[in-house]
Amino acid sequence: MSLTSYEVAEKRSQETKAAIEKNPASFRMLTGDRPTGRLHLGHYFGTLQGRVEFQNMGVDTWVLVADFQVITDRDSTENIDTNVEGLVLDYLAAGLDPEKTTIFCHSQVPALNELMLPFLSLVSESELERNPTVKAEREASGHTLTGLLLTYPVHQACDILFCKSNIVPVGKDQLPHIEITRTIAKRFNERFGRVFPEPVGILSHVPLLPGLDGRKMSKSYNNAISLSMTPEETAKLIKKSQTDSERTITYDPEARPGVSGLLTTAAICSGRSEVEIAEEIGDAGAGALKAYVTECVNTYLAPMRARREELASQKNLAKEVLLAGNERARAVAQETLQEVLGAMGMVY
Ligand code: TRP
Repeated sequence: MSLTSYEVAEKRSQETKAAIEKNPASFRMLTGDRPTGRLHLGHYFGTLQGRVEFQNMGVDTWVLVADFQVITDRDSTENIDTNVEGLVLDYLAAGLDPEKTTIFCHSQVPALNELMLPFLSLVSESELERNPTVKAEREASGHTLTGLLLTYPVHQACDILFCKSNIVPVGKDQLPHIEITRTIAKRFNERFGRVFPEPVGILSHVPLLPGLDGRKMSKSYNNAISLSMTPEETAKLIKKSQTDSERTITYDPEARPGVSGLLTTAAICSGRSEVEIAEEIGDAGAGALKAYVTECVNTYLAPMRARREELASQKNLAKEVLLAGNERARAVAQETLQEVLGAMGMVY
């Protein structure tokens, strides 16, 4: 029986995880986020926590503020500077350490972006068009498909390959981007000589944290708790979230998404199980549940928030972290671009 491509990716991810444990220093990890707003609890449990763990194990960690990806599906770069600074502060508050981790932006690393030209020559129109993530994002954006959205998986390959990272932590939805990155690396190496590693997607098995109302966590649903909210803002958001008319609290994500979303939020922040919390609250109802969720979230986030506030009070800190990261990224990108041009014989 042949394995599905997901099973193959899963197996590769498992094997690589074991190799990372043995020799973390032989791995370079790259991940990133679009600077479109503050990071929330879903980001923290889904990816940030894992990045910090890799960093602390001794993996060479690179984190990209993917500012050019902001305009894949929107017309404006409004508030981009505030969003970039906020994202960097979120990273630092969550435990990324700029002494160990290179934090940088697309827009400040020209040689990274220049890899887009040779890389675009390595993929076909139909490969771009059948990417399931691009299709989904196109539908979600309600925007016509821009050339940048169509080609952003190739840009993501530039992000991953410019620094020759060999591991990329991803959710299942980002796996097609890793596949295209591997394809680009392989084709480049075959056509022009070996320059790039074939990076492995490290699949996360942390279950997706639902929003407070049980729907997908999303800023547009107003159901996400940002790391940087105040305890009062957190309380207000939780208070407003939609539950149902049944008084007794039970955990049933299908039939009772609102109540269950709240229970999962409390569970992940307290380390308890949803069922245990539901039984404890019982007939006290949604008001009591919301008070408990608020307490769990605010207690869990308190140290991170205190740290963030302290970091934010250091004027220009985020900017300095980026300046240093950008400089490191530029040097590495320039070196890789020279290697690429050399392999292609474009040295005159
Ligand atoms: N596309 C990713 C997202 O929307 C962000 C990203 C950009 C990224 N470049 C990357 C993630 C490279 C991993 C590797 O979340």
